[in-house]
Amino acid sequence: MKILVPDVPFDLDFPSLLPDGGASFAPGGADTVVAYAMNEPVPEEHTDAEMLVTWSSPPKILADAARRLPQLRWVQTLSAGPDVALRAGFGPDVVISSGQSLHDDTVTEHTLALVLATVRRIDVSLAAQREHHWAKEIAFAQADPVTGREYTLDGARVTIWGFGSIALRLAPLLTALGARVTGVASRAGERSGYPVVGPDGLDALLAETDLLISLLPAIPATRHILDARLLGLLPPTARFVNVGRGATVDEDALADALRSGRLAGAALDVMETEPLPEDSPLWDLPNLILTPHVAGGRPRGAARFLADQLTAWRTGAELRNVATR
Ligand code: OXD
Repeated sequence: MKILVPDVPFDLDFPSLLPDGGASFAPGGADTVVAYAMNEPVPEEHTDAEMLVTWSSPPKILADAARRLPQLRWVQTLSAGPDVALRAGFGPDVVISSGQSLHDDTVTEHTLALVLATVRRIDVSLAAQREHHWAKEIAFAQADPVTGREYTLDGARVTIWGFGSIALRLAPLLTALGARVTGVASRAGERSGYPVVGPDGLDALLAETDLLISLLPAIPATRHILDARLLGLLPPTARFVNVGRGATVDEDALADALRSGRLAGAALDVMETEPLPEDSPLWDLPNLILTPHVAGGRPRGAARFLADQLTAWRTGAELRNVATR
């Protein structure tokens, strides 16, 4: 089988981790691994590939691969979210599986950074720094018994919407800082000791949320799911952090909520259109922190993961993270 892997600077030496030590990939063996430039169309001589490993390729490059690789049987993304591959137009017989779990550590760290930055008003301090202004008002607000609780995670009611592997890594860290964490998922229940409500418990939960963290994937059912109505249920002192996908948020409604003070603050790593257009109003909204979709950034353990996936493929065992089409 010919496998195309992106020429990215992480360790993708998965053949050596296969049970056969990569013998089938040795020169003259049955299999071939070819590196391709992820921002360029797949070269003509490699359009006979049967497996495509992707990482951050622009949508048009994946759409081109979908048109030009007729023998393709499997697309394995190294991103946690397979949404770009799912939209690329690969035939219905092509298996698409994602790199969910490869980003748990980095997304957790970035989420924590955004959460602490918005709760501790790091954006306000940075803006003041640029003006050479000593923003002592932050200290007075957090010392005030009325507003003080808006500046800490201790006792904060945190809702994590999308309660998968990243949430399970993140939740204990928030708990350690004193937050009370509740999850939202398609099925209610308890996960690793955390209460999780289903869609029917969402409205009531939002009304009692100090910090909403979204880890939702972009699928048709989540498009603009955080809309004006749901944002309106959050208390005006609440904050929102999005590290899932931008398409899940009605950005006009979010902008209105921030401008009018109906939402205290937000931090977004993901936006509906990326890169964020230069004239987007999001750049200049008050109390909004933006990072350029860098929470994941580096799949960890990708070689081991690919070797295990390939072994599963070859032995007919169940592949991990197969996306529903
Ligand atoms: C991912 C991401 O899906 O980085 O991995 O957003």
